[in-house]
Order: sequence, then structure tokens, then C-alpha cells
Amino acid sequence: MLREIFIHDGRLTCFDAGKGPVLLLVHGFPLDHRMWSSQLAALAGECRVIAPDLRGFGRTAPALAIHDELTMEHQADDLAELITALAPNEPVTFCGLSMGGYIAWQFWKKHRAKLARLILCDTKAAADSAEAAKGRHDTAGRVLKEGTGFLVESMMPKLLAEETRKNRPEIVAAMKEMMSAASPDGVAAALKGMAARPDMSNWLPQIDVPTLVICGAEDVITPAKEMRPMAEKIPGAKYVEIAAAGHMSPLEKPDEVNAAIRAFMK
Ligand code: MLT
Repeated sequence: MLREIFIHDGRLTCFDAGKGPVLLLVHGFPLDHRMWSSQLAALAGECRVIAPDLRGFGRTAPALAIHDELTMEHQADDLAELITALAPNEPVTFCGLSMGGYIAWQFWKKHRAKLARLILCDTKAAADSAEAAKGRHDTAGRVLKEGTGFLVESMMPKLLAEETRKNRPEIVAAMKEMMSAASPDGVAAALKGMAARPDMSNWLPQIDVPTLVICGAEDVITPAKEMRPMAEKIPGAKYVEIAAAGHMSPLEKPDEVNAAIRAFMK
């Protein structure tokens, strides 16, 4: 069920269904809660699944102000407000994909009392290089002038494994639809926010909640060769690699990803 939840400066739209431990599913860039379509109903049998559209994205875009730069910390603060409204007494399992993972680090740093576990899908702890950050600013400027069409075309080939691109046209279409629906303002502000995100690599040994790290074996954006060593630095973290999946492992291989999440939540 989709709900609108009031936070201090507007409304956040989120999917909310099921009973049990709270599983907060936080989408990547430039997507919305629908990227978790294969987790929402499947996991609501055993968890309370809450999947927001972040500030600047999906149905939340028109309902919350967007500043020029939307930091990962700001998004984490929004989610803390959401959780306070929906499940005030229960620390949550925060599951973030890619940009959702960048937000997860900030949620852990700033809102630790609200956190029971972390699931980090296809993400990284390192900050952008100076060159990557400049590239994001250039892209943000172009998005504001031209819209998101060129970004959708340039990102698509990197997001999905070859098998998905060839044999799963419905996933390719769903990704294009979500990316095209993202608001240029939200996309530009998130690009600048990601460019400004801090390097979390030195914090990894201090992560003090049970952690599951999931990586698509064919992810070229946050590859296994970076994610495996990242997981090894988090005390006690479990690392799961999903065969024949790219950056969008929960959408590409839902049965495998859902099984890993279920086993971890038990
Ligand atoms: C994402 O999937 O959220 C993006 O690839 C993150 C990024 O651009 O660093």
C-alpha cells in the first residue's frame, strides 16, 4: 500500500505493508521505490516492508523542497523522520542499493539508535575522485538544461548484466520508465549530493550492527572486486555474490536476493 507521510517540510510517499521486523528498502539513483518491486510483496509476508520514494524522486518529488545539493546526510535525516513517524519504537533493518547504501552509512553515523541491521546492495564506501565529482557536476548542469534523456541512455548499459539486457525486456523497460520519470531537479541535486559524500572507508571497522553485503557478480559500477574487500572490513559482515546479476541485483535475481535477505533477517 502506498502512503504519504508528513515530515517537517512536506510529504514522503512510501510503500508500507506487512507485519514483523521493519525492513526499510532505500532505492538507488535515479530510481524510486519500484526498483524493489520483486521484494515488496515477497518479503511483506515475514517483515514490515517500508520502501520510500526519496526526496527528489518518484511520487515524493513534487511534495518536498529540493535544495541545490541534496546530501546523503539530508536523505538519512528524512528517513529518520519517516521511521519516527511509522515505527518509532523499533530499530529497523536498513537495506540500501548504491545511492541507498551511501545514505545507509550516514543513517548509521547519525541515527544509530534507530538501526538494528544493515543490508548494503551494490554500493561502496569510497568517495568520488575529484574527476568523478566534476563529472557529476557537469552532468547535473546538463540535466537541468536538457532533461534526463541523455542520462538514461548513458546509464542503462551499465546497470544490468548482459543476460538481463538480452533476455529480460520487461526489466529493461521498467528501468527506463523509472529513470525517465525522475525529476531533473531531483536528479541534479542528488548528483551534487553524491559528489560531496564523505569517504566512509575508514569507518568500516567501526560498524557495530549485523551487516549483509550483496553484490551482483557482473556489477560494473560497484564491482565484486571492490565490494568483497569492503565487506571484509566490516566486523562479522556476511558477503553474498549473486551470479548473472549486475548493479540491479534485487531486480535481476530476486529469488537469490530475497533468500539472502530472509536468511539474514532470521
Ligand atoms: C546508483 O545506482 O544509485 C548510482 O549508480 C550511484 C552512483 O552513481 O554512484
